[in-house]
Amino acid sequence: MGHADCQVLFTADEEAYTLEVATPRDLAALYSLDRLCFGTRAWSWRAWREVVVWPGWTCLVLRGRWHMVGAMVLLLWPPVAHLSSLAVHPNFRGKGLGSGMLADALERARRASCRWMSLEVDRESPAVRLYRRFGFGVVRRFTEDGIERLEMVKRLAEQR
Ligand SMILES: CC(C)(COP(=O)(O)OP(=O)(O)OC[C@H]1O[C@@H](n2cnc3c(N)ncnc32)[C@H](O)[C@@H]1OP(=O)(O)O)[C@@H](O)C(=O)NCCC(=O)NCCS
Repeated sequence: MGHADCQVLFTADEEAYTLEVATPRDLAALYSLDRLCFGTRAWSWRAWREVVVWPGWTCLVLRGRWHMVGAMVLLLWPPVAHLSSLAVHPNFRGKGLGSGMLADALERARRASCRWMSLEVDRESPAVRLYRRFGFGVVRRFTEDGIERLEMVKRLAEQR
């Protein structure tokens, strides 16, 4: 497996986590992690199956020693990359794993010749600060199912 497909993330407590492309065997764990992180707004089983099976999606899972602790879904569609989902298990937050996954997403997008990355996030989510720290800016404010949301974009390369 090439380095592009398997990354190791280390945390301050010296635990190693591997970030790799999801397989159909990960479906059940992806589904339950998503429920845990997004509650009733989680994706359906069918949606997760599509994300894992259809090659147009890039689905990465972050594995700890025993369990899956994070997941991320990307759509690499040059010149745009869309970060469709990013989640870290609540017991593993605040260790830099979310930042590590986001850095990997940006690297993959650059390698795929994408010029910018977009995402949507709840206005009140702590993730907004994370995205701002990585240079994402707000390009649209909207309301979805009564929840205030933001569309954020980061430019990856200078436009010619
Ligand atoms: C957003 C998310 C992926 C970040 O994961 P993470 O592994 O905690 O990320 P990091 O450790 O790199 O820290 C990210 C920020 O969360 C803060 N944080 C620390 N402990 C935390 C905790 N227990 N819970 C939430 N955030 C915490 C960090 O201080 C950091 O803040 P900063 O960006 O202002 O510096 C994670 O909180 C999550 O899964 N949230 C629920 C799903 C979600 O909202 N996803 C984003 C929308 S698509």
